[in-house]
Amino acid sequence: MSNFLIFVTGGIAAYKIPNLCRLLIKAGHNVKVGMTENATKFITPLTFESLTKNRVYIDDFLTDVEPDSIDHIDLIEWADKIIVAPCTANTISKIANGIGDNLVTSSMLVVKSKPVYIFPSMNTNMYENPFVQENIAKLRKLGYFVFEPDEGELACKTEGKGRLIEPEEIFNIVVEEKLKGVKFLVTLGPTKEGIDPVRFISNYSSGKMGYNIAKYIKDNGGEVFVVAGDVCLDLSPFSYVKIRSAEEMYNEVISRFSEYDILIMTAAVADYRVKNISDKKIKKNDETLLLELVKNKDILYEVSKVKNEKQVVVGFAAETDDLINNAMEKLNRKKLDMIVVNDVSRSDIGFGADENEVTIFLKNGENIRLSKQSKYLIAKHVVDVAYNILREKNE
Ligand code: PMT
Repeated sequence: MSNFLIFVTGGIAAYKIPNLCRLLIKAGHNVKVGMTENATKFITPLTFESLTKNRVYIDDFLTDVEPDSIDHIDLIEWADKIIVAPCTANTISKIANGIGDNLVTSSMLVVKSKPVYIFPSMNTNMYENPFVQENIAKLRKLGYFVFEPDEGELACKTEGKGRLIEPEEIFNIVVEEKLKGVKFLVTLGPTKEGIDPVRFISNYSSGKMGYNIAKYIKDNGGEVFVVAGDVCLDLSPFSYVKIRSAEEMYNEVISRFSEYDILIMTAAVADYRVKNISDKKIKKNDETLLLELVKNKDILYEVSKVKNEKQVVVGFAAETDDLINNAMEKLNRKKLDMIVVNDVSRSDIGFGADENEVTIFLKNGENIRLSKQSKYLIAKHVVDVAYNILREKNE
């Protein structure tokens, strides 16, 4: 069950949206609607209020907001998926250029890493206008899903491209259940290797990359189990277990792996642990302190020994130099189906950041470069590629 936020803008096709609401609600989803002032001239807010049993949001500055709520921020926080339908040329261009002059457009400025589905509807000439096309291309590049309108008779009595696609089709697109029946095991976050009862060796992983992978899987109907290091993320939407050390992560992954179709290891696992963990807090008596480290088991390497031909295993490579060669060496040594390499020497991507920029290397030598974008959109590509490999293997 997902929270769908539907923004309706001022086009004749607004009459199709109550049907979309009905389909979503019937499938068990929650729906809230926001409208531009112009949209209310085509369809009344009361229609949506009656259908969704939720207040309809129209203008930040006109509605009686509760003192402790800010509509455009709270709405986006509530939503799992955001739909703009019908979306006029005006709203497309405002979103693409960062203009926030009504509830819909100012809400869109708040969106950071949630899927946005835009369904344009307008006169053909407006649709083909180079400014509008440029703005659509810009939105797509930024990761928004902008769909082609249908061809046919338009409200302006002309024939051509510009009709809003039918609600049933929109429903099928936004309630993607393509991962239904597929079981994913995802690891995330750092491991912590104890030194004494109060100290440990660890790394800067926040778990965000893996969290977004798990979220994308869940949003698309897949089954996901998360093995998480010590992270400050709310994992309650998922089934999960929390671990501390690399050894604990190894035990959790190895004991569960056979039940899953796809393993995605985003966790930053320590390669070494302290040989003798002190059971008492170490005193600072000496000028130097030597810790002897021993190698941890490589989880992915161990997985490769028990993996069957139908399972897919995805590794991540955190590199600071010679990215391609290091990633390829890991792909081959750990017998992975694919590896996702990111440059962790950069502070704007990789560890702790909300965005990432990666290259996916496949076993067959192909590679896919993904420009800097939200970790959710990176997750979408990674999961989609892994899922395609699974399908090919199981055909
Ligand atoms: O968590 P975030 O803040 O969002 O940051 C994301 C990330 C940078 C941690 C993530 O994108 C990433 O790169 N994860 C892999 C981190 C890592 O351990 O990379 P590595 O190159 O050292 O290891 C390669 C692969 O082997 C990884 O899939 C790792 O999980 C796995 N491994 C490593 C060591 C070990 N003992 N066993 C393993 O299975």
